[in-house]
Amino acid sequence: MKAVIYKKYGSPDVLQLSEIPKPVPKDNEVLIKVHATTVTAGDWRLRKADPFLARIFNGLFRPTRVKILGFEVAGVIEETGSAVTAFKKGDPVFASCGFRFGGYAEYTCLKVSDLIAVKPANMRFEEAAAVPIGGLTALRFLKHAGIKAGDKVLIYGASGSVGSFAIQIAKAMGAAVTAVCSMANLDLVKKLGAEQVIDYTRQDYSAVQERFDIVFDAVGKTTSSAGKKILKPGGRFVTVKKNPKSGKNDLLYLKELIEAGKLISVIDRRYTLETIREAHAYAESFRKKGNVVVNIIPD
Ligand SMILES: NC(=O)c1ccc[n+]([C@@H]2O[C@H](COP(=O)([O-])OP(=O)(O)OC[C@H]3O[C@@H](n4cnc5c(N)ncnc54)[C@H](OP(=O)(O)O)[C@@H]3O)[C@@H](O)[C@H]2O)c1
Repeated sequence: MKAVIYKKYGSPDVLQLSEIPKPVPKDNEVLIKVHATTVTAGDWRLRKADPFLARIFNGLFRPTRVKILGFEVAGVIEETGSAVTAFKKGDPVFASCGFRFGGYAEYTCLKVSDLIAVKPANMRFEEAAAVPIGGLTALRFLKHAGIKAGDKVLIYGASGSVGSFAIQIAKAMGAAVTAVCSMANLDLVKKLGAEQVIDYTRQDYSAVQERFDIVFDAVGKTTSSAGKKILKPGGRFVTVKKNPKSGKNDLLYLKELIEAGKLISVIDRRYTLETIREAHAYAESFRKKGNVVVNIIPD
């Protein structure tokens, strides 16, 4: 099968399109024929070992544990392990690959867990592939912050993958959303449901008069001291620089929101395995709007 592998840390040029054997699922795994995957911040960070601590996870001098990146996928179950009862051949699914990655390939094996579910009926594969990482991250931080209906939530970095999902999830949970992004993304975040928008290139968001129940730094580019200035007493500041746990059934909750028409994935640019180096270079710029997808079998 075709797969993009990497054997050393570095620029997008370390990504190599190769022929490797098709994987075989273990008893508790499914083999997925991958239709689409994405380039997340996790992919480019692990490619270049940024932060340096990524090397503790994936090998000090060269990648050893993960050699095929690709943090999330959507595709069709091709084969199931002997102990798998939750899925059958032919099921369309979307999944986070977790820290085994492996999405940049025509086929990948995943353990059956909370991180894989039947694809939302109203999404194309490329749209569904973009949901698990950004969507689950947004959901788990908002839950960690204790979000409830009626809350005023400010999302800093609202136009990226995590931010664009966070706006919609917060809205679906009954919160009023203020989004912080640059001028170029004002229309996008309003369309996703933000009631108020602050252009961070023209205004210091931490100097506004309004007070919020939650300030969520969805891009890791503000500070807790800035965010905490505009919290109500008892309000919470959360940032993607930390790492709370995913809840059980979170992916199924996102699927329900999608099927109820309350959650979409924003797709900025589309690439293929052949052009994946360009996709990495773009994603790494920190300028993408929503998500960058890689189509392996075009929808
Ligand atoms: N802790 C976790 O579990 C976890 C999970 C997933 C991701 N992450 C981290 O979360 C971060 C965000 O990931 P992502 O995939 O959402 O990123 P992304 O999609 O690449 O973010 C791009 C967006 O960030 C905005 N942006 C860039 N610089 C900004 C700034 N100084 N202030 C405000 N907005 C800015 C850009 O909008 P403008 O062009 O308008 O500036 C762009 O739309 C990454 O660092 C990633 O590693 C953490």
